[in-house]
Amino acid sequence: MAFYQRAGSIPPKRHTQHRDPDGRLYYEELMGEEGFSSDSSLLYHRHVPSAVVGARVWQLPDQSAEANAPLLPRHLKLHQLFEGEEWKSCDAVRDRRLVLGNADVRISYVVAGTASPLYRNATGDECVYVESGTGVVETVFGDLDAGPGDYVIIPRATTHRWVPSGHEPLRLYAIEANGHIAPPKRYLSRYGQFLEHAPYCERDLRLPGAPSVRHGEHVEVYIKHRGDGPGGLAGSVHVTPNHPFDVVGWDGCLYPYAFNIADFEPITGRIHQPPPVHQVFEGTNFVICNFVPRKVDYHPLAVPVPYYHSNVDSDEVMFYVGGDYEARKGSGINVGSITLHPGGFPHGPQPAAIEASLGAERFDETAVMVDTFRPLGLGEAGRVSDDGAYAWTWARS
Ligand SMILES: [Fe+2]
Repeated sequence: MAFYQRAGSIPPKRHTQHRDPDGRLYYEELMGEEGFSSDSSLLYHRHVPSAVVGARVWQLPDQSAEANAPLLPRHLKLHQLFEGEEWKSCDAVRDRRLVLGNADVRISYVVAGTASPLYRNATGDECVYVESGTGVVETVFGDLDAGPGDYVIIPRATTHRWVPSGHEPLRLYAIEANGHIAPPKRYLSRYGQFLEHAPYCERDLRLPGAPSVRHGEHVEVYIKHRGDGPGGLAGSVHVTPNHPFDVVGWDGCLYPYAFNIADFEPITGRIHQPPPVHQVFEGTNFVICNFVPRKVDYHPLAVPVPYYHSNVDSDEVMFYVGGDYEARKGSGINVGSITLHPGGFPHGPQPAAIEASLGAERFDETAVMVDTFRPLGLGEAGRVSDDGAYAWTWARS
């Protein structure tokens, strides 16, 4: 994020001595993107941030993705993936299951009931959407509360962990980039402030609370990083001599934050508005959009559901998280479903949904969409949750 924040204890001048009450120096760390040429923050640690006393391989969950062949639209039922009481022993990091992925972005799903280990994704930023349940994302910058409808944006290499709270399963839809995830550039001034036409602004973002120092010795940190495994990934576990959450203060423009989908102000019109009005974030070669409850098109002859469209340059992934998605009526889509509409395939409403939408004043639907500019493959969770019938629903209606 482009706007400056500060928390805790920092010295008045950067790169100068900063000491604790006993006179010991704090260790300054710059965490910055694009080789000192983009956003960064300075963090002040009680211990040496690069100290490691052990390391071993972390065998990542299956990251292989198979081609969508033959090319078909697909309906994936994510709620089938974690059945029974299995979720109670799952954590939000190690038990993620890959649904869809390509060289730019991976979409995984997990239902968590236990705290994750400390984790650092060194391959890119994460945007984790909370479908349901509550938890705390403890980070080196401070803690973030997370609940239904939150997007939690975690910059690359931020040490953090997910701790479920309450008794409900924590259902997470993890969008992992191989680059950075940020608000669309067109929403921002040339200096980075949200513009008036943007559907959300700085006030809607929730930042970590004050950094809290934790104590511990020989603490494990799970690291997902570049490697020669499926998806170009590998995993390692580092053992640090002291707890990595030892920051007494930080400042800068790089930090995790949360944004709730209910704070997205929909842009509507007299006739159908194109999907870019629903955009919430962008990454390298993909965008994230959301469809939220809204008044719909008010031209007297408007057709509120979308026209058929060939997204010739992208694969479209819709995750249905609330309400009844109007354009998919009659297709078997429910909350917890994903649809994949690949490039090279014109898609649109099930025919009965068009007539049914005429005269509607409001759609009470919530969905998160990821459009990728390179084709997506099916991960193991995508393959086992495929209903195998969605492709034929337009001809059947
Ligand atoms: Fe579409």
